[in-house]
This record gives sequence, structure tokens and C-alpha cells, in this order.
Amino acid sequence: MSKYTKEQLVAILAPVGQEHVLRFWEKLSDAEKDNLGGQISAINWSEVSQWIHDALHGGEATGIPFDKLVPAPYIPLKAESPADQARQADALATGEELLRQGKVAGFTVAGGQGTRLGYDGPKGTYSFSPVRNKTLFQYFAEGILRNMEKYGTVIPWYIMTSPANHKATVDFFEANGYFGLDKANVRFFTQGQLPGFDQNGKAILEAPGSLALFANGHGGTLAALRDSGTLDDMEARGIEYLSYWQVDNPLVATFDPLFLGFHHLSGSEMSARALIKRDAMEKLGHFCLLDGKTIIVEYSDMPMELLQQTDEQGRLRFRAGSPAIHVISRKFIQRLTNGTLSLKPHRALKKISYIDENGAQIKPESPNGIKLEFFIFDALPLAKSPMILEGDRSEQFAAIKNPSGSDSADSCRRDLQERTAKWLSAAGVKVPRKADGSLDATIEISLKRAVCIEDVQALVRAGEIPSEIAAGSTFALD
Ligand code: UTP
Repeated sequence: MSKYTKEQLVAILAPVGQEHVLRFWEKLSDAEKDNLGGQISAINWSEVSQWIHDALHGGEATGIPFDKLVPAPYIPLKAESPADQARQADALATGEELLRQGKVAGFTVAGGQGTRLGYDGPKGTYSFSPVRNKTLFQYFAEGILRNMEKYGTVIPWYIMTSPANHKATVDFFEANGYFGLDKANVRFFTQGQLPGFDQNGKAILEAPGSLALFANGHGGTLAALRDSGTLDDMEARGIEYLSYWQVDNPLVATFDPLFLGFHHLSGSEMSARALIKRDAMEKLGHFCLLDGKTIIVEYSDMPMELLQQTDEQGRLRFRAGSPAIHVISRKFIQRLTNGTLSLKPHRALKKISYIDENGAQIKPESPNGIKLEFFIFDALPLAKSPMILEGDRSEQFAAIKNPSGSDSADSCRRDLQERTAKWLSAAGVKVPRKADGSLDATIEISLKRAVCIEDVQALVRAGEIPSEIAAGSTFALD
């Protein structure tokens, strides 16, 4: 006997016009009924119906009054005046102190599907590093080890998974001994899911006994942090700030004292790194101010005229782009998730496999459905004093999104090696270059050994890195 009866489920679904998902009910096994009944009962259908109604009938309009949009101010990375230099030094010292006091945790969102990369498995288990072919998870784990050593503290690591990749993610850490981290300080939690809908707003069945469910976007983070007890865990450990990064950006400075210090000193509840856009068409979200609130306007939503607008110095007016690197205060997330969270999901058109009337599974060739996703940056306008700090792209950002070309493992390896080469050169090491200026060696220094130039300098002084890398050679330091 299933835990659910058809009548119970009809009572939930009929008021929102979704009873069609029960059309194979009589043919389902008890286990399948349990599964479908569980999925249906876990969804807040009235809320979801409103969102899907908005997604279907809201048209393409974003609702943003673009004539009122102005660029959001950001703190430039280069401090010009003595006052700015003093402020920066203060921020750096403050951030280092926060790290030493153990007030910061790492937080990686790793629940995405990685559709563009086309890799079968959690993206964090993707191998990419130039010499040792390490996975993204190992790479970050080693960075955390070095930061713990550097600041003489414990840095917990929170990892958000999705129901689809949770088990594979945890199994991967177990099989690899947590890459040297103490398992007690690595905590996984799962984000929520939302159903996919067809163009008529009807929930899609991916199997006779299962809805098509999708992870609810990186904005699902906030509710998941609360629901999983992670916020309580942070509070019990005395963690004040989450250093937030995405699983597919191994270049990110995971614990950047300058960024943490500015966040703290400015009284910000949520802060963001900004990169100066390479050109008008670069696909980064834009930091903007609307009625005094900081918002991020997606590349695809920004009118061409604003994308291309320049200021009196000839720079792009809306030049501050978001690489999705944040510091978020625990108390802010507690405040936001205390009552009803008011984030609205964005819609994405997707190819969603479905079951036809005869029970056959159809894999569509083109997008046939709508997926709803929350975005973490929609929390920015809700934050007090949001702070935006310019970042150095070559030190902060090289995302792996695509199998080849831009934002791929290849481009990431190139950028990573260029950063290593920069650190080595700054430490006085001769790095070979080809005639065209590209690197003439394959190099990798584990983050376990060096997370910044100063670390590399110390390794050179200690004789662990030679004064010259031979042309055409492979150099790795583990
Ligand atoms: P993307 O927006 O690039 O999505 O995620 P994705 O699923 O990884 O890749 P595509 O678009 O299908 O190719 C940016 C970051 O947000 C996380 C991802 O794991 C990645 O770190 N993310 C995304 C989640 O944690 N949950 C989600 O529901 C979506």
C-alpha cells in the first residue's frame, strides 16, 4: 500500500489545475506512488503556480525602468590617494584578523547541472589542473588547507549540492579522504527543487511516477542554508561570514583578506567582487543602482544602448561585471530566512524529457519547457550597505562552463598557468616564453603550498622552487 491515496493528491492538485500528473496513477507500483506522492506533497503549489503564471504571462519585459538605471559605485582595486591607501591597508589587516579569529567559512555552490560542459557527474569532480589533472574539489580543498595553515585556524567548508548530485558528491569526498581536510569541517547540504512546466503551465512528468524536477538555482542557497541547519552550525562555530564562490571558478581567491576586510568595515551584509568588462558584449551581469538599491542586471536583459554607453573617459559606463564572488554575513541570511523569503525566480527555457500520453519517454530536440531558478544576486538589493570591490581578473576568475573555446577547461588552464607564472616572476623566478609571448612550460603549484605571491616568494627562498623553469619543461610543486 502506498502512503498516498489518489484523493489526497487530487485535493492538492485540482485547485491549481495540475491533476494531469496523476494520469498513470493506476498503473504505478506502490514505490512509484510513494515517489510521486512525496514529490507532489513537497511542493508549495499555490506559490509555484503564481511564479509559472508570471513566467508565462509576464512576457519578455524585465520590469526594470532602464531610464532610471545608473551604474553602481565600486571600490577600485588601485588605491590612488594616501587616504584610500590607508583604507586599503586597514581592510587588509582587518580581513586577516577575521580569518585568524576563525570567523570565516568557505561556501561553494555545486548543485548545478553543468549542461554546457556536458560532463557526466558533479562538476566539482571534473579534472582540469594543468599538470596533476586535479579535480575542482581537490583544488579548493588544498587552498583551504593552506589558508588554515596560514591563519592558524579552522576554516569550515560548506558545499551546496542538489538532490541529483548529492550522493555522488559525498561519495567522491569519502573515496578521496576529504583531500586531507577533517571530515568534521566539511558539511554538505542539498538545495531545493522546483518542477519544470510546459508552455501551457502544466507540470511535466519525466516518468509515469515522477515529476521533472530541477535544482532551484544558486539562489536556492538561502533557504537551504536555513533548512539544512547550516546557519545553526555556523553560529555554533562562531562563523560570521561566508566566502561564497562557484564550483567552476578555480581561480577565485577563496579567502581574500582585502575583500573580507572591506565587507566588515563597510558594515555590508552582502558584498560582491566586480570585474571590469572586457568589452560591451561580455556576458557578465551588471552592477547597477535602481532607486538607490544595488541590483545586478543580467547581460541578456540589458538594452544594447546601455551595454555600449561610454563615460566621459571613454570607458564603458556599465563596466562593472559580476563574476559571482561574494561575502555574505550569516546574520543577513538569518534575517532574510526568518520570515517568508521574497526572492522571485527567473525563468529559463529548457529541453525537458517528458512522457507522452502512451507512457513513452520523449527527448525533445528543442526547448519545450520552462525551468524556474532563484539567483543568489537577487539578495543584494535586500542587503544593508552592499559593498562592491573591483577584482583583478587574472587573479580571480577563469570559469569552466564549456567543453572548448572560451570559458573552457583549456582557457582556465591557460589563465591558471599565467597566474602561476605571474607569481613566479614576482618572486624572481625566470619563466620561459615562446616568441609569441605564450608560456613555454607546463606549470602547476598546488594551492596547498601557495595561495598568493608571498607564499611563492617563501618557497623560492626555501629553495623549493628553482630560480629558472627550463623551456619546454613541466614543473609541478605538490
Ligand atoms: P551555472 O549558472 O553556470 O549553471 O551555475 P550550471 O548548472 O553549473 O551550468 P549550465 O548552465 O547547466 O551549463 C553557476 C554556479 O551555480 C551553481 C553551479 O553548480 C555553479 O557553481 N548552481 C547552479 C547551483 O548550485 N544550483 C543551481 O541550481 C544552479
